[in-house]
Amino acid sequence: MTTPDNSSQGSPGHGEPGISADLERTTLEPIDDPGVQSHQWRPTDVDAKLERRAELQVSGMFGVATILLLLFCVAYFAVEPEQTFLGWSALNFALGASLGGALLLIGAGIIKWAKQLMGDHEIIEPRHPVRSSDEDRADVMVDVNAGLDESGFGRRPLIRNSLLGAIGVLSLGPPIVMLRDLGPLPKHQSLTVWEKGMRVVNDVSGAPIKPSEIEVGQLINAEPFALFEEDEEGHRIIHGTEALQAKSKAAVILVRMRPQDITPGEGRENWGIDGILCYSKICTHVGCPISLWEQQTHNVLCPCHQSTFDLSDAGRVIFGPAARPLPQLPLGVDSEGYLIAMSDFQDVIAPSYPELSRDQKKLDDRYE
Ligand code: FES
Repeated sequence: MTTPDNSSQGSPGHGEPGISADLERTTLEPIDDPGVQSHQWRPTDVDAKLERRAELQVSGMFGVATILLLLFCVAYFAVEPEQTFLGWSALNFALGASLGGALLLIGAGIIKWAKQLMGDHEIIEPRHPVRSSDEDRADVMVDVNAGLDESGFGRRPLIRNSLLGAIGVLSLGPPIVMLRDLGPLPKHQSLTVWEKGMRVVNDVSGAPIKPSEIEVGQLINAEPFALFEEDEEGHRIIHGTEALQAKSKAAVILVRMRPQDITPGEGRENWGIDGILCYSKICTHVGCPISLWEQQTHNVLCPCHQSTFDLSDAGRVIFGPAARPLPQLPLGVDSEGYLIAMSDFQDVIAPSYPELSRDQKKLDDRYE
């Protein structure tokens, strides 16, 4: 039985605390000599000049990566989205090239560091039962600590600091500047576009609605007229994302019941017109739009988690996870006989959220 000849694995001066343990394990292992060639030291292990040059090259890569990451941040603000470069978006090109180049250089630097400067000795690890013995575990920790020592992380401050700088800029710079894409902070969460005198219109045609057009038992999906209002050139005044956001809070349902079936909420005795009531279409649980209307029971059901609201009883929750009644919009009629809102909603239109009681208090103060 023979063992690999490791006699040529002497250290050229870097200190190899794991080698003696490895050799000892190797001689104890009952395997044939696999014919492994004797170890060849790398040029950087035996030539201090080459070692220094490799160290400078690695730290140079990390330094250039840092510059590219800073350029990424500058380009994000300095290059206009409309600018082009060779037919491409100049902004995308600048961001992609700088970030890609930085990542490439950091990766290449780490590889070069590991291949040319970190400790270079062969480790033989015999197979063991799944759980290592306590002794082996202790050996592993010795090897890990030796590896940390051999990487030169503590001894090569130039490489270490340039790498930490590049990683620091990578982890902080691009993520922070890209927070800008989150847009402006939301304001006036508790308000919608409804206001006193605004007509309630059909949600598809935008046509105003007269009370006589709604039959007992009927439900109509409706919107505020503001979402259909146009300027002199025929363009919607509220459009794009703003219109979508406004619609998501202002959508309503109109229902008509027999007046004698209605139990108006306190202070809401005059919020309906001839048995017609108007409620938010947004479920107070997590905000699904609702319109599953049960004519006989006067309940409206949310399809998401089955919250059920009694529209004849001020939108009270009678089943399901919703914790608040469906907000009601006070109705009136204008001089031409069309349905209008008498104010904005007086309850917050939204699913429940942590600051809801604060926003509700603001609304209560507003309508006191
Ligand atoms: S969103 Fe309506 S019940 Fe959950």
